Amino acid sequence: TWTTGNVIEEQVEAIREQVGDKRAICGLSGGVDSAVAAALVARAIGDQLTCVYVDHGLMRKGETEQVEKDFVAATGVKLVVVDAEERFLNALKGVSDPEEKRKIIGREFIRVFEQAQAEIIADEGPAVEFLVQGTLYPDVVESGGGTGTANIKSHHNVGGLPEDLEFRLIEPLRKLFKDEVRMVGQELGLPEEIVQRQPFPGPGLGIRIVGEVTKERLDLLRDADAIAREELTAAGLDRDIWQCPVVLLADVRSVGVQGDGRTYGHPIVLRPVSSEDAMTADWSRLPYDVLARISTRITNEVRDVNRVVLDVTSKPPGTIEWE
Ligand code: XMP
Repeated sequence: TWTTGNVIEEQVEAIREQVGDKRAICGLSGGVDSAVAAALVARAIGDQLTCVYVDHGLMRKGETEQVEKDFVAATGVKLVVVDAEERFLNALKGVSDPEEKRKIIGREFIRVFEQAQAEIIADEGPAVEFLVQGTLYPDVVESGGGTGTANIKSHHNVGGLPEDLEFRLIEPLRKLFKDEVRMVGQELGLPEEIVQRQPFPGPGLGIRIVGEVTKERLDLLRDADAIAREELTAAGLDRDIWQCPVVLLADVRSVGVQGDGRTYGHPIVLRPVSSEDAMTADWSRLPYDVLARISTRITNEVRDVNRVVLDVTSKPPGTIEWE
């Protein structure tokens, strides 16, 4: 019978046998799949595994700390964190085009990751022969099935990096579905915030700022996003919605009034959606009182934001993300 305990035991044994006395590396994205894959491999081979986390500065509030502190505390994993915020912000300077942003973020990510990887390979110790990837069963089916869905956006996935063939792959989740992966993660003692995390795009907040990405705008969006997440969680809605992108329209300003003065600030868009697989989605009918609380708090607490709007578009025709 299928139990998370059996899955873990079976994988731990298989990974130990496969890796022997060699070493493995794993890229962490902050997402569920790479976290559970890494935790499973760490359980099997301990410090023969090194994890790499590239902090591109485009994460939401608290997410990098979650990986640096909570994940490490739960798994005891050896982690290399690369602080690359400045590098990413420099590369993104002056860029507003969504596809351009995606390409730049993907390209810089590979460069930074490969550099970190080279340093790990160069240090003393057994050969680094394995790369851990959080590939799930649906990914396996999708890439082999060849149903040929149109490529609307150039996706950035930590799981797909790097494509060097010098590594042998360890894919301990390739027979599992998402809900099973969450159960395995829980059994491995990972924090709830990581195991139950909703989908978040690889390019992060970089594609949730319509307009140029700057540190100031990222900080503003991080504050707005944190408020929306806090209120959705407090209302017990996390399991009801698939995800809720919060988007800053940095190139738009509208007139408002606050206190006794005129304001000319930016709108924040709430994009709560319900979905089974992100291929199609419907906008979530959130309770009005929750929406009201989010709106009031964001306009009161986030400087330069004077309007909150709700996206009521399904997918299609709208994609889930705005870029
Ligand atoms: P769209 O906007 O295409 O998003 O309807 C569908 C789902 O994919 C997520 N998304 C990404 N995930 N790398 C990822 O790992 C990406 O580059 C990326 N872009 C979008 C999005 O959040 C939604 O869940």
